[in-house]
Amino acid sequence: MTREFLPAGTAGVIEACPAAAPASLDAEAVVLFIAEGGVDTGMAAAVDAALGGLLRRLASAGELTGRRYEAVSLLAPPGLATTHLLVMGLGRLEELDAGVLARAAAAAARQLASRPRGRVVFLAEPTWTSFMVEQAVAGAATGMVGQDLYRSEPKRTRFATTQWMAADPAAVARGAVIADGVNLARRLVNTSPDHLYPESFAEEAAAIAGRTGLEIEIWDEERLRRERCEALLAVARGSARQPRLVLLRYRGRPRSSGDQPDLALVGKGVTFDSGGLSLKPSEAMMGMKMDMAGGASVLGAIATIAALKLPVDVVAGIGLVENMTGPAAYKLGDVITARSGTTIEIHNTDAEGRVVLADVLDVVRGLAPRRMIDLATLTGACMVALGNDVAGLFTNDQACCDALAAAARSVGEPVWQLPMYPDYGEQIKSDVADIKNVGEGRLGGAITAAKFLERFVGDTPWTHVDIAGPAFAEKPRPWTDGGGTGVMVRPLVELARSTV
Ligand code: BES
Ligand code: MN
Ligand code: ZN
Repeated sequence: MTREFLPAGTAGVIEACPAAAPASLDAEAVVLFIAEGGVDTGMAAAVDAALGGLLRRLASAGELTGRRYEAVSLLAPPGLATTHLLVMGLGRLEELDAGVLARAAAAAARQLASRPRGRVVFLAEPTWTSFMVEQAVAGAATGMVGQDLYRSEPKRTRFATTQWMAADPAAVARGAVIADGVNLARRLVNTSPDHLYPESFAEEAAAIAGRTGLEIEIWDEERLRRERCEALLAVARGSARQPRLVLLRYRGRPRSSGDQPDLALVGKGVTFDSGGLSLKPSEAMMGMKMDMAGGASVLGAIATIAALKLPVDVVAGIGLVENMTGPAAYKLGDVITARSGTTIEIHNTDAEGRVVLADVLDVVRGLAPRRMIDLATLTGACMVALGNDVAGLFTNDQACCDALAAAARSVGEPVWQLPMYPDYGEQIKSDVADIKNVGEGRLGGAITAAKFLERFVGDTPWTHVDIAGPAFAEKPRPWTDGGGTGVMVRPLVELARSTV
């Protein structure tokens, strides 16, 4: 297992190190995790002994509580070789799981990454499972990366070396790979839309595919026309940038076991969404560089699955277009014949994601996957329903949806299922074509969008994930500087693992 996501030498070393007396650790910083009221157990007790009871003194004075994400820095701590001991709160021990731990580790790393550091040691607790260790490692390695792509003076610097004391080396290695997948998705989302457009996204995918050993096919305009992807092409017409469809394939199973993919991932890759002729107002358009987050997370997930060498077959399809208002832009009232043959009447050019996905879902479904998951920053309505942090789930197959929800829960990413009653489907009937691309009015808009997508998946067990809310963090949180989040990368890796 190697880390192939970043050019050599830029990722920082992340490794396990043998157990040692906390007092002797001469790293530039040491991170100790404590649960609420937990100064006298586990690693905290050992560190407290070396400190001559300082932690217990601070705890009884109320300066150190162990509340979740509370960060207490002890500089030049007496009796320790390190100059900086960061004590990170985990909250109540009964509530501690891999998701909480990932965020706490990220919060600790984020604080310490505010300036360059050579070696930082995290003290793992022997009570943690190797899954918890893996997720903590992944969390720390995402926390030390901020939104610095275009800043002359970066706010965060990756540690040259991160060590996890007394942790399972294989779990540490897996955590580092998972973080690279998440950080890849975050970087793509944070890249300005003038730098990341369909062609350059496809080139990024090709570079990642080369490093992780994924098969890749890139469909250009001509190929898309030959493949009758008229829906995707219609959205692309208003842009000076050519569209692309990226297909990736990872074969982790012996060939003899058949050619049917265990899992298909589909991503919305609108590299900028102006709304098209149904133009967005300025405030709503700001931030629409993130409209390719579904595609970014799909790329991050399949690359991580490949780097982890999971024994599954996975295919991914990413529909890449820019939604603009150029002279050839698709128009209201246009009727488009999608690849599946279904005709779509356009009522709003800003409901472009579903039009693009109509063709990508059709292409990928043709590969006969056992399960298909799509990720899309599809509707503002999903944010009205669930807020900023929760992804919406929509399905035609409850078992498929349950498996994804369980995977998301295990890594601490919140998701919530919304209903798919047939009546919502009535709303997308058109007077002149098979369907139209919006419902009647704004109410239930996340569901009518999902009902539209459902028309293109046939009998394939499928779950749609609307990530409009969680794809991008407008504000910093203890565990992140904000910006692209890499949402759903870890759940998809978990799903692939549980599919085995
Ligand atoms: N990309 C947007 C959805 C979106 C909005 C994502 C805010 C993230 C934050 C999508 O293409 C869109 O514009 N949807 C419309 C649909 C409407 C025209 C039916 C929307 O949600 O307003
Ligand atoms: Mn739109
Ligand atoms: Zn969009």
